[in-house]
Amino acid sequence: MRVTRRAAFGAVLGLAAGSRPLRSSAATRQAAATPPPQPARVPVPPGTLAEFEPLAKRRMTHMAYEFVAAGAGDEITLRENQAAFDRLRLNPRVLVDVSALDTRLTLFGQELEFPILLAPTAYHRVMHAEGEIATVRGAAAAGVTLVASAFATTTIEDMGKAARSPLWFQLYVNKDRGFTRDLVQRAESAGCRALCVTVDSPLSGMRHRERRAGFVLPPGLERSNLKGLAAAGTTRRSAEGTIYNVVLDPALTWKEIEWLRGISRVPVLLKGVLSPDDAVRAAEAGVGLIVSNHGARLLDTVPATIEALPRVADAVAGRVPILMDGGVRRGTDVLKALASGASAVLIGRPYLFGLGAQGADGVTAVVRILRREFEMSMALTGRRSLKEIDRTVLWR
Ligand SMILES: Cc1cc2nc3c(=O)[nH]c(=O)nc-3n(C[C@H](O)[C@H](O)[C@H](O)COP(=O)(O)O)c2cc1C
Repeated sequence: MRVTRRAAFGAVLGLAAGSRPLRSSAATRQAAATPPPQPARVPVPPGTLAEFEPLAKRRMTHMAYEFVAAGAGDEITLRENQAAFDRLRLNPRVLVDVSALDTRLTLFGQELEFPILLAPTAYHRVMHAEGEIATVRGAAAAGVTLVASAFATTTIEDMGKAARSPLWFQLYVNKDRGFTRDLVQRAESAGCRALCVTVDSPLSGMRHRERRAGFVLPPGLERSNLKGLAAAGTTRRSAEGTIYNVVLDPALTWKEIEWLRGISRVPVLLKGVLSPDDAVRAAEAGVGLIVSNHGARLLDTVPATIEALPRVADAVAGRVPILMDGGVRRGTDVLKALASGASAVLIGRPYLFGLGAQGADGVTAVVRILRREFEMSMALTGRRSLKEIDRTVLWR
C-alpha cells in the first residue's frame, strides 16, 4: 500500500487520513521536533542510605573516603556483612491492624524512640570541617543516641556540651590504667550514659586501601580525648617491626573488664563479640554486648555479624541486652537484626557518608530514612511493636 507523506504525518500526529492539519506541515514538523517545555530539574535529595556514599565521595578527600570505606584484608567480611542480610527473606503476616506502630524500647534504663544508634567512629573532622560537633547536632535533630569514639577529633567534654540527645562513650583500654580511669570519669562527667568497651582490637587491622591512600591525621587534628598520652596525636600504628599499636593494649583480659565494671557508674557493654562462648562469659559478668566485627575492619573472613547474632542470642538467652552492628543499610536489615535477637542496631559508615555529604543535615537524613524504612518494614510484615518481632519474621 502506498502511503502519502501527509498520511504518514497524519498517522504520527493522530489525524484521520484526509483531514486537514491545523498548521502548515513545516510548522508541524518543527512542533514535533521541539519537546514541550520541561519544569527546571530540582535535584532530588537522597532517599536511601546508599545514595549518600557517592555524594560523600565527591566532597571528601580521597584519603578520608578510603579511610571510611575500607575493610580489612581482601574485604571478604566487608562484602559479607551486607550480603548475609540480603540472603535473609522475610515472612510477612497479613490482615493485622498496623495503623499504629510502637518502636519504643528501654535499654539500660534509657528510653529510645526507635532501635537505632550511631556507632562509635574515629576522626569526624577528617570527613567534615565541623566534625563531631556536626554529628552531635545531626544526632540531636534525629533524636538518636550517639556513641562517641575514644578516637574522636573533638573532646568528649565539647561533645557533651553540644549534645541534645543521649551520648554514650566508646573506650579503648589503654596500657596506662590511670589514664583509662580518668577517661571513664571524664566521659561520665560529660553526660555519657553507657560505656562501650571495644574488646576486639588488641591491635589494628590491615586495611590496604587506607594504607595505599596514605591515610594520616591532617595537621591540626588529633585524638583529642587522648591528650597527655604518648603518641596520642599520631595515627602511627606500630613501632617499627612489631604488629602492635601504640595506643591499644594487647594484654587486655576479662580481669580488666571486672575492673572497669568496678570503676564505672554507668552500664558497661563489650563491643566486638562474635563467639557464643565469649557471649556466655559476658552474660555471666553482667555486661551488655554489641555483636560486631568492627565493620569488617579488623580480621577478614570472620562471619557476617547477622550470621553470628542468632548463636550469640541463643547462648545469652536474654540474660543481658544484645546490640549489633555491621552492614545495616536498610530498614529491613534493622528488622532482620531484631528478629535474630538484637534489641537495637548501630550504624557506622552510612552516617559518616551522611556527614561527609551534608554535615549535620546528612547525619539527620540518614537516621530519618532508616527509621522510616524500618517502620514500613514492620507494618508490611504485620508487626506492631518491637515485642512482636521474633524469629518468625524470617522466612525459614
Ligand atoms: C571510619 C570508621 C571508624 C571507626 N572507628 C571506630 C572506633 O574508633 N572505635 C570503635 O569501637 N569502632 C570503630 N569503628 C567501627 C564501628 O563502630 C562499627 O562497628 C562499624 O562501623 C559498623 O559497621 P558499618 O560501618 O557497616 O555500619 C569504625 C568504623 C569506621 C567505618
